[in-house]
Amino acid sequence: MQRSEFSITSAYTYDRRSVARWLLSHVGRYWPFALGFYLCFITAWAAYSGAQAVIGRAADVLSGPPDYAALTALTLGVLALMVTDSFSALIGSLSAETVAARVEADIRQEFYESLLAKSKAFHDRQRAGDLIARATDDTNLVANMIVPGSTLISETVLGIVVPLTFIFFTEPRLMFIPLLFVVGYILTAHRYLRRLMPVIQRQREQYGLMNAGLEETISGIEVVKASAREALERSKYLRNAQRFRDLFIEQGRIEARYLPLLLFGIALGAQFFHALWLYSIGEIGLGQVVAVIGLMNVLRFPTFISLFAFSVFQAGLAGARRILSIINAETDLDENPNGYSAPLRGEITFEHVSFSFAAHPGESPHQVLHDISFHIPAGQTVAIVGQTGSGKSALTQLVNRTYDATSGRVLIDGVDVRDWNLDALRSQIGKIEQDIFLFSRTIAENIAFGAPGATQVEIEAAARAAQAHEFISRMPDGYQTVIGERGVTLSGGQRQRIALARAFLAHPRILILDDSTSAIDSATEDEIQRAIRQAQQGRTVLLITHRLAQIRWADQILVLDRGRLVASGKHEELLRTSPHYRRIFARYEHAVPETGVVRATEGAA
Ligand SMILES: Nc1ncnc2c1ncn2[C@@H]1O[C@H](COP(=O)(O)OP(=O)(O)OP(=O)(O)O)[C@@H](O)[C@H]1O
Ligand SMILES: [Mg+2]
Repeated sequence: MQRSEFSITSAYTYDRRSVARWLLSHVGRYWPFALGFYLCFITAWAAYSGAQAVIGRAADVLSGPPDYAALTALTLGVLALMVTDSFSALIGSLSAETVAARVEADIRQEFYESLLAKSKAFHDRQRAGDLIARATDDTNLVANMIVPGSTLISETVLGIVVPLTFIFFTEPRLMFIPLLFVVGYILTAHRYLRRLMPVIQRQREQYGLMNAGLEETISGIEVVKASAREALERSKYLRNAQRFRDLFIEQGRIEARYLPLLLFGIALGAQFFHALWLYSIGEIGLGQVVAVIGLMNVLRFPTFISLFAFSVFQAGLAGARRILSIINAETDLDENPNGYSAPLRGEITFEHVSFSFAAHPGESPHQVLHDISFHIPAGQTVAIVGQTGSGKSALTQLVNRTYDATSGRVLIDGVDVRDWNLDALRSQIGKIEQDIFLFSRTIAENIAFGAPGATQVEIEAAARAAQAHEFISRMPDGYQTVIGERGVTLSGGQRQRIALARAFLAHPRILILDDSTSAIDSATEDEIQRAIRQAQQGRTVLLITHRLAQIRWADQILVLDRGRLVASGKHEELLRTSPHYRRIFARYEHAVPETGVVRATEGAA
């Protein structure tokens, strides 16, 4: 069983052991439609080939004495067969389209769910644009692989086998050349496919790359503009697009050398010769010649269309491979559905915790935290200080199991986080990330993100506690204001307070505030200060901040230096005993002079 951080109990299980099995298990879900397609198409091809045989019979009748009754019967026969052909083809196409549309939707959903289930460590290694390419374009190619890919390939097979069967029953000796043709066809098609596959696979990879570049430039458009990099980004994209184009030209070259059509031409000529020869020596009649040549002509369409069908099929396979590789990618955390689940008290213990981020392939992992141990009783406020890059954010990411410790244990309420039910653990820990992310939805929806059922009253109460109510009310649509993607239409301080309200609304027992880089004016600072004081009531708070005022009234301060815990204790104590702390503190004091902030908080304390 594959690990995942999220799963749906009612989800349909597909066979993911190989691309072929996976695709078959998807199609197999709708087997009645698939079966319907085959029955209809066999009927259609039999009717169409049958019509050719009837036309041959008509030629026989015509060359004899006039027999209008027989001719009328044969004409009606052709009409009936052609109508059967059209109707069966129609219903068959409908069935195939149904399968393709459903499979496409299922694959997209399966892919999306698998992305939700992957760990943060997994997502750290992916590029969003490439994942989006897989979810959109590659799934679309898989659908194309079913219609028209598979249907055309089925038609190719049927469109060759059925007429050959009719030829066999018309005159077995005239099977010789068609059989040679089939052998030649299989050999050349095989060679063609072997050449085509790598090119198509590269096309897909290149498409993902191009899309990833596009996504990155658009997301970072502010940086691109600010550094006047437009021209450079343009040429970078152009290079990617040209590589993509070149792969299509290469595909075109391979397709141009598709030999079966040439083989077909030769086979038709040879068959004509063979049939006429048998006719001239009196072995077969005129009707048989007409029927056999008619049947040979039926082969042209499948031979021609298979060129296109193979390309579409291969592109679908390449797409399926890309989607399945992500679905099957190992992820390191597990949702642990049977794990410990209880109301959280808020006690945090680190026991000899070391941590390194998973390295990119070929690199050695870089250790970020070294042998860290400490204990935080429930309800305390703990400040984590240290220079930039010292591992403060990384440390808090171990608490809610965004990542797992490489060695040592992280305990919440005395239970190893790995033994907790992941959902129970995370839903009781609120976190305000260093880079606040807001969705391009309304403010109310953003605040209620972690508590979807929340009422407007609750949302407003949370916003008030986070000192956000006032500025939200001043917005044109109040709580219904839709904010730009990632919250770009809000200021840094506003985003922070919305994030704070979002954290409050879920009533977490442990609140983690990663606030190390924000620098805001003192009035906003004051408000955030008040908000954070609110936040502390009745919960454990981990605070990463540069704000002296907040650090001073923490119950405990952890001092990190290059991934090591070098000191811990209260402010006064650390000032006396820790040179590291004094250094940081001196710098803070310099950076944050005695402003209204400090006085305001002390007044509030
Ligand atoms: N996703 C990641 N993958 C690999 N390395 C990372 C990742 N995130 C951070 N690092 C590395 O881990 C180290 C600690 O980073 P961390 O974000 O914990 O620092 P920090 O103390 O929070 O710094 P700051 O005060 O600037 O926020 C850094 O050296 C950083 O390069
Ligand atoms: Mg950080």
